[in-house]
Amino acid sequence: MKPVKVGICGLGTVGGGTFNVLKRNADEISRRAGRKIIVEEVGARRDNPDVDTKGTQVTRDIFAVATNPEIDIVVELIGGYDVARDLVLTAIENGKHVVTANKALIAEHGNEIFEAAQKKNVMVAFEAGVAGGIPIIKAIREGLSANKINWLAGIINGTGNFILTEMKEKGRDFDDVLKEAQALGYAEADPTFDVEGIDAAHKLTILSSIAFGIPLQFSKAYTEGISQITTEDVQYAEELGYRIKHLGVSRRTESGIELRVHPTLVPEQALLANVNGVMNAVVVDGDAVGQTLYYGAGAGAEPTASAVVADIVDVVRTLTADRDNRVPHLAFQPGELSDAPVLPIEENECAYYLRLSASEKPGTMAAVTTILGKQDINIEAIIQKATSAEQVPVIILTQQVKEQKMNDAIAAIEALEAVTGSVKRIRVEQL
Ligand code: HSE
Repeated sequence: MKPVKVGICGLGTVGGGTFNVLKRNADEISRRAGRKIIVEEVGARRDNPDVDTKGTQVTRDIFAVATNPEIDIVVELIGGYDVARDLVLTAIENGKHVVTANKALIAEHGNEIFEAAQKKNVMVAFEAGVAGGIPIIKAIREGLSANKINWLAGIINGTGNFILTEMKEKGRDFDDVLKEAQALGYAEADPTFDVEGIDAAHKLTILSSIAFGIPLQFSKAYTEGISQITTEDVQYAEELGYRIKHLGVSRRTESGIELRVHPTLVPEQALLANVNGVMNAVVVDGDAVGQTLYYGAGAGAEPTASAVVADIVDVVRTLTADRDNRVPHLAFQPGELSDAPVLPIEENECAYYLRLSASEKPGTMAAVTTILGKQDINIEAIIQKATSAEQVPVIILTQQVKEQKMNDAIAAIEALEAVTGSVKRIRVEQL
């Protein structure tokens, strides 16, 4: 059979890894795909010293790759939104199948891109966009297709997990660890995407769509970063038997879909609490299968290339398949997406860790617990640290409650004369 010709746009960390894996494992890959896969052309603004492109056509014009009549599959690895969107839409318009690792692109423009792909009868594959080398898209979209998914929760940003792990285990400084993550090629071009949870929200938006069969709705995701987490919170969490992880959580409820990324207290014995460094992990709870866990490297050149190349192989296998028999982009048939709303954060339900600074005098604790009681908030545990200071830290762990009730309770606690400053709130998931 004729070889399949691939054009790679972008030769950075993931582009370089993809080129090298395709070359190194060419025989093994073609035995799986059933056809030889050739890198026909590379489009990159600059060379990558870790990649030997000798013998491959290289252009500085990535759009030349998207329009090259020889090419069957365009692999978009340039990142970003606008140029990537134009590139992918140009490739689709020219009848190319597309493989991308660009979660921002899919989370923000995926609905438009899939519609264009549907019209041109081409595939757009994006496994590498979520959790690096872990085949989580394939697992949910195909492996769990018998299930009604109840919820999923994951550590889906390697940089953030790397930072939290190094801070906890080695007491390292936030900025110092972030610099290392950038040097290792884990961090986004704008690292605030990693630490403020935007990258994780892009990935969660995609997972939520394929799990619940809803259109991609990144703008409705609630996003909170890890930059406000202090070592005190890490220590108090430990005293209570929890670890702090930056989680993406999406849950089906009767009134809609929860879609949120935030620092989270997770019981120390939970599998997710023990996922460290740059590793990612996602737990998916399905009604038939129960809980399943997917774990692996969430970033880096070759782990991400592993997912890109698997997508290329998948596309090669579907080249001859009838379009109606292909796996739908968002797991559910395009006409079968549900209009279940994504809930505003105030309507999400969670347990909470609260830390406040209260004056050491009679009645203070009673006033705080009365406020919680009035909002129907059950207390799970309280720690009050006796110090010689007039203000003492009080840590409260609550049971589950609607976020709006917790907002009202926090406002009332902060208004107490005996409480100084704001109340620190971290959500808790028992998983
Ligand atoms: N910046 C991302 C991360 C890269 O740290 O997880 C992989 O998507």
